[in-house]
Amino acid sequence: MTATDPDTQVGQELLRFPPDFLWGAATAAFQIEGSTTADGRGPSIWDTFAATPGKVEGGDTGEPACDHYRRYASDVGLVADLGLGAYRFSVAWPRVQPTGAGVVEERGLAFYDRLVDSVLEHGIQPVATLYHWDLPQALEDHGGWRNRDTAYRFAEYAAVVHARLGDRVSAWTTLNEPWCSAFLGYGNGIHAPGVVNPLGALEAAHHLLLGHGLAIEALRAQAPADHRLSIVLNFSSVYADDPDHGEAVRKVDGLQNRFFLDPLNGKGYPADVVEDTAWLGDWRHVVRDGDLEVIAAPIDWLGVNYYSPARVALSADPAHVTPGPFPGLRGVELLPPRGDLTGFGWEINAEAFTDLLERLDRDVTVPLVVTENGSAFPDTVSGGRVRDVERTKYLVDHLRSVHTAIARGVDVRGYFAWSLLDNFEWAAGYSQRFGIVHVDYTTQRRTVKDSGHAFARIVRHNAVPA
Ligand code: NOJ
Repeated sequence: MTATDPDTQVGQELLRFPPDFLWGAATAAFQIEGSTTADGRGPSIWDTFAATPGKVEGGDTGEPACDHYRRYASDVGLVADLGLGAYRFSVAWPRVQPTGAGVVEERGLAFYDRLVDSVLEHGIQPVATLYHWDLPQALEDHGGWRNRDTAYRFAEYAAVVHARLGDRVSAWTTLNEPWCSAFLGYGNGIHAPGVVNPLGALEAAHHLLLGHGLAIEALRAQAPADHRLSIVLNFSSVYADDPDHGEAVRKVDGLQNRFFLDPLNGKGYPADVVEDTAWLGDWRHVVRDGDLEVIAAPIDWLGVNYYSPARVALSADPAHVTPGPFPGLRGVELLPPRGDLTGFGWEINAEAFTDLLERLDRDVTVPLVVTENGSAFPDTVSGGRVRDVERTKYLVDHLRSVHTAIARGVDVRGYFAWSLLDNFEWAAGYSQRFGIVHVDYTTQRRTVKDSGHAFARIVRHNAVPA
């Protein structure tokens, strides 16, 4: 379809999205809130990790982040100014249960009450994530996600938050990217809690998935029928240049994608991954009777986080242990990214996004929502403006890829830009800026970047230029 449009170009062809497509931006509590000791909040594993010298770039911590705990109302105002229909945020477990169990901190819950009310006052739909990596430190002191008990504590916490906000929030996500929590947190230790124990990482992954299933059961038991429950996974399309290296693709796809998707789909853990990782030792002793049924509790939509593809090849030595985040991976080389890279060094590949969405359409029966997609570049504010040409291009190219997938029949219901604000990028601290809104951490001034203005136009037209 063509349209004459002052926001794009005269006669520019527009790729239109479905009429009820949900447009949003996403954030996570630890990355933006700051105020890490306010109102009874307990320490999380990320407070501990960031306070450990050498773990986070620049020695950065969760303070001040975007000071969002105090500035939430104006930040929600930005979401409204951008014209977005939805806002994805996460609830900090250690604000709600400072020690991860039992006693509930009323002041912590009250913050999310205020946040949700403010989102709703602007006519924006809130989408709540229950766990975006900030495990209460008290639970880690008892083994964290390597301890089965954490799964039960998570389901209890999830029920507390849902009981409080469920009268206003109907879209829920249990876990954000359990791959990262398990494999970066307990596998190679580059994320909190910084444990290096590949076997423990696989055990943690099972407990995370169990926690997800138990939380779905708990929420389903108390939720009205129209509540929509989900999990958010970080997927990658995996490619080998040499068609004879399909075995490398299978192995990495197994640990990146199928290890999480298959049990959620009721297929249990993929047999080939179980076999490939057996040399590490027995992690499946943690899988008890009935667990796989719990993990397969039906969800209503799947959250898809996509940033870049993985490139792999077979190693000359099949017994060579592959350095990196994948527990037990042997005989595979993880190749460097190629072509255009983001400022973070990640490969920019929008076609791989279409491949991924089409693949997920074959693998899952529920609708997909892109819960995160975005890029980091070193922005500067000049004359009150951030000319982030590369991020804008990344955004538009990836939206075209989403549009292509939809045109080919993939059921994608929404797209959330990562992120609303520049924020604490985990082990990279404040060095990487993913926001469509710039944050000056000294003054806390917000500046909508050119990519943010472009996104607002796309949302207003419900279309991207072809
Ligand atoms: C995925 C994570 O959910 C988010 O917290 C992180 O900032 C982005 N990826 C970028 O790395």
